[in-house]
Amino acid sequence: MSSGHSQADASSGVLTELDHVGIAVADLHAAVEWYEEMFGATVLHWERIESDGVDEALIKVADSYIQLLTPFRDDSPLAKYMDRNGEGIHHVGYRVDDCDQVLEHVKAQGARVVDEHPRTGSRGTTVAFLHPKTAFGTLVELVQE
Ligand code: CO
Repeated sequence: MSSGHSQADASSGVLTELDHVGIAVADLHAAVEWYEEMFGATVLHWERIESDGVDEALIKVADSYIQLLTPFRDDSPLAKYMDRNGEGIHHVGYRVDDCDQVLEHVKAQGARVVDEHPRTGSRGTTVAFLHPKTAFGTLVELVQE
């Protein structure tokens, strides 16, 4: 890097891993088939997340996941998002050791959040979302495994 610092000096702070990239799709099975045919990928985990009104298929990529998402009811936030924006990258999930602690920290720093308190996400993880307006247009999810 031009700064002269080696990569070993770089730190992601409280972000320990890129947990997943959430991708909104209209047809979950068609999207899964595409990843299977194009890349030989297989689905590690299927889940209906009732609270969010979405079905997900998780494809593992090294220590991270591609989270293919589709709404299963019209009043789900993802359905409303897709009405405006269509398919594509919806959010980025960063892994943290302590979701509650990181959420309180970012709130104290003035970040706007979607979730005031951590809640249960897919695979039994603990998650909280930061508002895209606070994060340069990207919906950010904190994920504690
Ligand atoms: Co997610």
